[in-house]
Amino acid sequence: MNTALKNIDKSLLKEISKRRTFAIISHPDAGKTTLTEKLLLFGGAIQQAGAVKSRKIEKAATSDFLSIEQERGISVSSSVMKFNYRGYEINLLDTPGHKDFSEDTYRVLTAVDCAIMIIDSAKGVEPQTQKLMEVCRMRNTPIITFINKLDREGLEPLEIFNDIEDKLQIECVPLTWPLGMGKRFKGVYNLEKKELGLFSPGYTPKDGGGILITDLSDARLDELIGKSQADQLREDVDLIDGASEPFDLRLYLNGTQTPVFFGSAINNFGVKEMLDSFVKIAPQPGIRPTATRDVDPHEEDFSGFTFKIQANMDPEHRDRIAFFRICSGKFTKGMKVRHHRIGKDIKIANATIFMAQERNNVEEAYPGDIIGIHNHGTIKIGDTFTTKEPLKFLGIPNFAPEHFRRVVLKDPLKAKALQKGLLQLSEEGTIQVFRPLIGNMHIIGAVGVLQFDVTMARLKAEYSVNAVYETIDLAIARWVTCEDEKMLREFTKRNESGLAIDSEDRLIFLTTSEYQLGFTLEKWPQIKFHKTREHNL
Ligand code: G4P
Repeated sequence: MNTALKNIDKSLLKEISKRRTFAIISHPDAGKTTLTEKLLLFGGAIQQAGAVKSRKIEKAATSDFLSIEQERGISVSSSVMKFNYRGYEINLLDTPGHKDFSEDTYRVLTAVDCAIMIIDSAKGVEPQTQKLMEVCRMRNTPIITFINKLDREGLEPLEIFNDIEDKLQIECVPLTWPLGMGKRFKGVYNLEKKELGLFSPGYTPKDGGGILITDLSDARLDELIGKSQADQLREDVDLIDGASEPFDLRLYLNGTQTPVFFGSAINNFGVKEMLDSFVKIAPQPGIRPTATRDVDPHEEDFSGFTFKIQANMDPEHRDRIAFFRICSGKFTKGMKVRHHRIGKDIKIANATIFMAQERNNVEEAYPGDIIGIHNHGTIKIGDTFTTKEPLKFLGIPNFAPEHFRRVVLKDPLKAKALQKGLLQLSEEGTIQVFRPLIGNMHIIGAVGVLQFDVTMARLKAEYSVNAVYETIDLAIARWVTCEDEKMLREFTKRNESGLAIDSEDRLIFLTTSEYQLGFTLEKWPQIKFHKTREHNL
């Protein structure tokens, strides 16, 4: 037994059991903003629809940095949204999407315990969802699926299941089943409770809207939706009961099976059913691996890690907010913790907890909660704070960038400032910086192209650096390792022109295409090429 767990504090146990920390993964336009808003409405965190819509500005296909910054207030406070539902303390972490898709988008997924995946019923699995699922798979994150926009014509449910199973390699188990779609969309049948909720646009479950039919043989069903659709539903349900695998909590929790819900987020429909199941089956904060041992959330000693850093951009105050996920113990205001990377004790007096529309000074927080810690650039992604031993949490990696630029300085006297700025920005996780083995330029890499605009604007504003980008013919990056040192030296010698060093002195291979990568892989079978790299290891 874990010796750190000798006397579990009962109140800690209770607080942890109430916490659910999750993110929504989806492709742009599938309905993430809409669903978020509905969840917050059900949780009483916002009072009316439209409150989250201001985020839409992020969607305006703009790469104009200033307008992004004007919105920063919104994006900071909506990075984490805390709400309460039926006694559960729920932390919803935003996965920035659209043009601001970045490493942050991926890294947020390392700080959650589960995710809700939204699929647009007309589109099936789309590329961004596929990318985000790849990241979820790294930690076997449990996924609940919500198939949205049933009020529009879309693919047949089974077609969507095949698509999900094919592209995402996860087994679908329906927990609700739709009755028609588009103009013929009549409702959703809850396969577990054996209840049919009938759809009306603008459905409000709180007012008891949506007549419930509990017995499919009830003749009222034929009257309400017509005999042919009623018969179709009876047939579908019989078929599902016979053919579909039953929902298996264990398989859901290890990320191999996903329970599926159908609905229409914009009409509130099917959302409450999903949320009710979510709080029941989504896992509470669990054990987190570190480089030395597993950390149980119930341990008395406080620990956690930084997964995101947001610059505040006020030139007068260079403060940043570090988003910190608590992994064990209880946080209390004014608490002293050790910042292990720099070997200093710090007092956290002004941490922030993020509510849907406001930020509050946090008095206490528990595993699963995210707190915001103000600092002046001393905190780096992956940094751990604890009240006891040094720990390095695993699974907070760098992700291989997909876009590259060369930075060309206009004023050569600013070389030092450029270096400092790039280092800071890479520590914050905005971009990654590479120094090729040959030559002395800087190559920067990003997961989303918007990061390049952010970088340039910040270099100018914070470091007075005037630089421009040059495009560079690179598309793929892989960190390379090899157990055989001699072989690695040989590989390095032969591929010098394609290799670079990252900001933590790791060797990375940069190339132009999948084809080129494949060619190199084949030629060097003993060399390992990694798409992700752990921080500080
Ligand atoms: P995102 O954050 O994933 O990008 O998606 P968002 O919620 O913004 O939804 C994208 C579009 O899809 C929005 O329409 C939204 O109203 C619509 N939508 C969301 N859920 C449903 C649904 O259940 N049924 C239907 N028919 N549409 C849905 P828009 O035209 O881009 O914006 P708006 O003018 O409606 O605000």
